[in-house]
Amino acid sequence: MEGASAFREAFGRRPTHALRAPGRVNWIGEHTDYEEGLVLPCAVDRDTTVFAAKAPGHRVRVISAALGEAEFDARAPTRQAGWIDYVQGVVDALAKRLGPAALAGADLWIDTRVPLEAGLSSSAALSVAVAFAFDRLFDLAQNPRQLALAAHEGESVFVGVGCGILDPFASALGQADHVLRIDCRDGEVTPIAIGETPVSMLIVHSGVERRLAEGGYRERVVECRAAFDAAREAGLVGPDATALRDLSEEALPKLATHVSETVFRRARHVVHENARVDAVCEALAGNDLPRVGELLCAGQASLRDDFEVSLPELDLLCELADEQEAVYGSRLTGAGWGGCSLHLVRPQQAENVAARIASGFARRYGRRPKVLHLRTASGAGDLLEW
Ligand code: GLA
Repeated sequence: MEGASAFREAFGRRPTHALRAPGRVNWIGEHTDYEEGLVLPCAVDRDTTVFAAKAPGHRVRVISAALGEAEFDARAPTRQAGWIDYVQGVVDALAKRLGPAALAGADLWIDTRVPLEAGLSSSAALSVAVAFAFDRLFDLAQNPRQLALAAHEGESVFVGVGCGILDPFASALGQADHVLRIDCRDGEVTPIAIGETPVSMLIVHSGVERRLAEGGYRERVVECRAAFDAAREAGLVGPDATALRDLSEEALPKLATHVSETVFRRARHVVHENARVDAVCEALAGNDLPRVGELLCAGQASLRDDFEVSLPELDLLCELADEQEAVYGSRLTGAGWGGCSLHLVRPQQAENVAARIASGFARRYGRRPKVLHLRTASGAGDLLEW
């Protein structure tokens, strides 16, 4: 296969291992993970692949078909302010857990079919694929959850994004035909079958790259912390409370007099979004896709009005979809400020729905958005044929 020969061409020998890690689509539970809340993603059939072999010494050389070439010393990962930091972050996290002697030099060739800057978590796919690659190269005997945690630490701490566990858990632990209910407090993962009624996932790229995402994301993290601190000071959560997850729907209205109007809306989103995750799980168990769709739409309204991470482009995509009979529901997926919308659609109508969304969007913005029909997929692992 292509990856193995590209590796051979670049490094002059055969790779010994090949791994894959998928991107993800989050169905509901947005901006809840960093407040120890609930999320409901699935892994999707777009992978990042890594071809790898050990190399003498401690130099790690990485070639990414999409992003270029870079290298670093496995004993001393140091931030370079580029994509290689995601690779370094994983090595750093694994070395902290297993000791610096556990890892040494390696050559990696990386390719991806996860669209970049689209909110489908290409960064977690990269980190998780690299974590699996180092696990196999150096016989680290880590399980997928441990590798997901190392990938998370790399992105959150080493790269410094401050994100939660949603993306690496979805990428490492996903299951075909399931969404994962992840409790970001204790890391418990419950696969929920998507059910008997077939449903298509349409993903539409707004065409807006998530430029504002980094600053805006950090700001939301800070606002949520401010909401939690105020709730604790006002005695609205118990003494053992550690996150907005602990603020109940009943206590929420009392927070209004203790924080700014904006911070209150941020908290309201998080508290209601956690409840929506369990409501979607319940609706899926009852095979009630119209109810699932309704909850997705409520989630979108909350992201737009309370959390303010949507954009006119994403709102329009959701409106264009939701006015169609064959659409159960829509919302933006991922952090927001651009990227993609998710639409759950009756499969026989998916082509039609996609065409109408695209033409409605083109009428307003003068360009056709890219539509992907994605399927659920299993989480990261060895590439079986190469
Ligand atoms: C990004 C982060 C995740 C999560 C989502 C919002 O994808 O990486 O940890 O916070 O945004 O739900």
